[in-house]
Amino acid sequence: MQSPHKIFLNVLAAAALVLALTAVAAGVKPSPIPPLMLGSAWYPEQWPESQWDTDLAHMRQAGMNMVRIGEFAWSTIEPREGVYELDWMERAVAAAARHGMVTIIGTPTDTPPAWMTTKYPEILRVGEDGKQLQHGSRRHFSIGSEKYRQLCAAVVEQLARRFGHNPHVVAWQIGNEYTEDSYDPESYARFHGWLEKKYGTLEALNLHWMTAYWSQTYSQWSQVPMTTARANPGLLLEHKRFITDTWRDFQRNQTDVLRRLVEPRQLITTNLGGLGWANRFNRQQVAADLDLISWDEYLGSGWFDNARNGTGHLDPLRSGATHDLVRGWKQKNFWVLEMPPGFVDWGSVSNSLDRGETRAMVWHSVGHGADCVAFWQWRSALNGQEQYHGSLVGPDGEPVPVYAEIAQTGAEFARAGPVLAGTSPVSEVALIHDYDSRWAIDFNRFSQRYDQMQILIDYYRALREPTQAVDIVTPAMDLARYKLVVAPSLNVVSPELARRLTDYVRQGGHLVLGPRTGMKNEFNALNRERQPGPLLPALGGRVEQFYALLEDVPIAGAWGAGKATVWAEYFDRLAPDTEVLMRYGPGNDWLTDQPAAISRKVGQGTITYLGAVLDPALMTAAAKQWTKQAGVTAPVLPAPAGVKVSRRVGAGREVYVITNFSAGPQEIALPSAMTDVLNGGEVSVANLPRYGVAVLARPAAPAGTKFLP
Ligand code: GAL
Repeated sequence: MQSPHKIFLNVLAAAALVLALTAVAAGVKPSPIPPLMLGSAWYPEQWPESQWDTDLAHMRQAGMNMVRIGEFAWSTIEPREGVYELDWMERAVAAAARHGMVTIIGTPTDTPPAWMTTKYPEILRVGEDGKQLQHGSRRHFSIGSEKYRQLCAAVVEQLARRFGHNPHVVAWQIGNEYTEDSYDPESYARFHGWLEKKYGTLEALNLHWMTAYWSQTYSQWSQVPMTTARANPGLLLEHKRFITDTWRDFQRNQTDVLRRLVEPRQLITTNLGGLGWANRFNRQQVAADLDLISWDEYLGSGWFDNARNGTGHLDPLRSGATHDLVRGWKQKNFWVLEMPPGFVDWGSVSNSLDRGETRAMVWHSVGHGADCVAFWQWRSALNGQEQYHGSLVGPDGEPVPVYAEIAQTGAEFARAGPVLAGTSPVSEVALIHDYDSRWAIDFNRFSQRYDQMQILIDYYRALREPTQAVDIVTPAMDLARYKLVVAPSLNVVSPELARRLTDYVRQGGHLVLGPRTGMKNEFNALNRERQPGPLLPALGGRVEQFYALLEDVPIAGAWGAGKATVWAEYFDRLAPDTEVLMRYGPGNDWLTDQPAAISRKVGQGTITYLGAVLDPALMTAAAKQWTKQAGVTAPVLPAPAGVKVSRRVGAGREVYVITNFSAGPQEIALPSAMTDVLNGGEVSVANLPRYGVAVLARPAAPAGTKFLP
């Protein structure tokens, strides 16, 4: 016998099912994610509702098919503790849908409201200087605060319950541009707990960090400092890993709620900022917990020279490298959730991109694997910290000059979306960007001239030119898919990483190591063997000594002749089958005639170690040799300087996205007729004015096709 209560519950459940089925029958099907999304950050909470329709109509006219809302709206969503107001948001999502747009919802956790920071001041972030932040800006929360996490989970739960089945909501963005870590007492306690979990005993920690040095020996976990100053290298590296894990579980606190309550078709992402290269934490590890990764592309010619960020014009090489880095975090396509509509408000000179440059920037990102581009922001906010920032409509809600260019791009997205659906960039070459190594070198560069990011970009340039496709990946990713893996500055090599790299080579991979490889182990201690540490047995040679160069030294051999600059290591060849490929010439007595690059066949592949930084011409020549030796396929569309060609493959076709960033018009002869996706028809020549874009498609050759030489 069922109890009356149980019967009542069953009746309720049946009624709910009937209602749900009626909704499906009424045709409320989930909106699919468009294959190419174009959209904008829209802040309906800042504007009278009567103006929403005009805004949305303008978006739709610009070909937009997505809006991104909510990421700073906490004080509107939860004006008082536990009082949630979400009707306005639901009306905004519905209004966007009426205009044919899907919605991405940002969780508002970058901006805790004033009632919260007043009531729970312990959630406020503390800087390394020990000062607690005040209210009035954003990012003023501590990622380590348990109370803050509870408050975040509560608001996310409300959002998830309301929108987790909304047919027009296609994705969630967690917070906004994770940036700042905290030095509050709770974060210290977390750090100490994290260390204890990792090391088990203080003896183990003291041993690995060799704390006998300068009497650093710890007898209580709470004695371990948290600092970015010149501290023990083991401590510094662990602090970075701790920050990474703290962001990961800060994020997981929200993704757990979403995964429990929202439909799996709603993807979970976050928008990483800092021009992609920021390294306060390991971004690949944060990306690992998400369905896909997104980043915010702002113009900036430097990734470390802040004064130049936000100023100038797009540097397509660096922009392309950044897209390739972001794509490498998950080895799949990504979204660009913010791009400036012409200009920002935080550059040393917030100049505008040229006419046509924004459109070229959008298409360039698509070529590199972006399936979504959104602008920041739609409309100039009347007040708030960013009044000058570029937008598509002014404070009056009417289009500004760049609007027409973006509308052109929107119309093009509609044409190209079906062709690009299911395609992604494919590369046979991987360049390694390893966070542990990057941190380890930056803690003590040894030579300020050793700018590892500049070195990385020099390698990237030299490898991309002959291949038009490079993935930038961390060593944790799948390397077996690449014919060639190149790792400059891979300073931290654990026995486990050495095993993986050696297996890669054994199975036919070609591995090229650059300077400073394998000096450190996973505790940032010196490896007992000399460089390349645990890779020494595979290489059959070791670094005798490293030198920070003040003056260039000649270098010559199998890859040509030129200069070793900035850094030079020379080798002792230990195995009889290890070959010397390059040698230093006269100039520095320590180096004269010594091996500068050595190589060895191992299993089906090769391992090569180049100990010097090369001048750009020699770098280019060397990279050509490496790609040739590894059998990397030559590109079919060689392009003049300044013209960027990217290829996306899939769904039985290949699609070329060509953008002309050179100073004048360019004509590119195609090896075969291709479909002109943007203009229609077939073309055998692509004519591109400055900032011109061509999207060309042709059927892909079936796998295994053999071509005549
Ligand atoms: C981004 C941020 C946006 C906006 C933008 C301005 O870093 O995510 O919210 O502030 O900068 O350029």
